[in-house]
Amino acid sequence: MVQEKQVTLSVNGRSRTGRFPAHRTLLEALRELGHTEVKCGCEKGDCGACAVLVDGKAVDSCLTLVWTAEGRAITTVVGLGNAQSPHPLQKAFAESGAAQCGYCIPGMVIAAKSLLDRNPDPGEEDVRIALSGNLCRCTGYTKIFEAVSTAAAALREEGGVR
Ligand code: FES
Ligand code: FES
Repeated sequence: MVQEKQVTLSVNGRSRTGRFPAHRTLLEALRELGHTEVKCGCEKGDCGACAVLVDGKAVDSCLTLVWTAEGRAITTVVGLGNAQSPHPLQKAFAESGAAQCGYCIPGMVIAAKSLLDRNPDPGEEDVRIALSGNLCRCTGYTKIFEAVSTAAAALREEGGVR
C-alpha cells in the first residue's frame, strides 16, 4: 500500500491541506486541490506550463515533490490579481493579444513576474532569456515579449513591485 502523508500548503495566502503519497508532485497536488490554473504540459521540466512561485522564485511544479513545498509561500497566476484588479502583467497579456489558446500563459506570467521582481527594467534579451524555459505553440512569442515589456513599464510608472 502506498503511504500517504498530510501536507499543508500555503497557496496564494490560503492554507490548503491534503493527504498525498510521498512521490506526488506539487503540480499534481495543486490540481487535486482545485488549482487548475496551474497547467500540466510535459511533466518533465521542458515546457514551463506548470510554473509557480515558491518563496518568490519560479519553479516547475512538475519537478517539485509536494512535501518539499510545505511551509513555503506558493503563488499561482491567480494569486497575482483578478479580473477586477489585474496585475499589470495580466493586464498587458490580455490587452496585447499575447494569449491564443492560453495554455502556456499562467506559466509565462509566473516566469515574467519572477523576472520583474529581480529586474524591473529588463531589455528584450533579458525577457527572452527569462522566458526561455516556457514554450508556446501558438503565438510566435513576439506579443508575449511585448506584454512583459509593457507590464514592466507600467510597474515602473506605479513606482513599485507587486
Ligand atoms: S509540465 Fe512542468 S515543465 Fe512542462
Ligand atoms: S497561447 Fe497557446 S500555447 Fe501559448
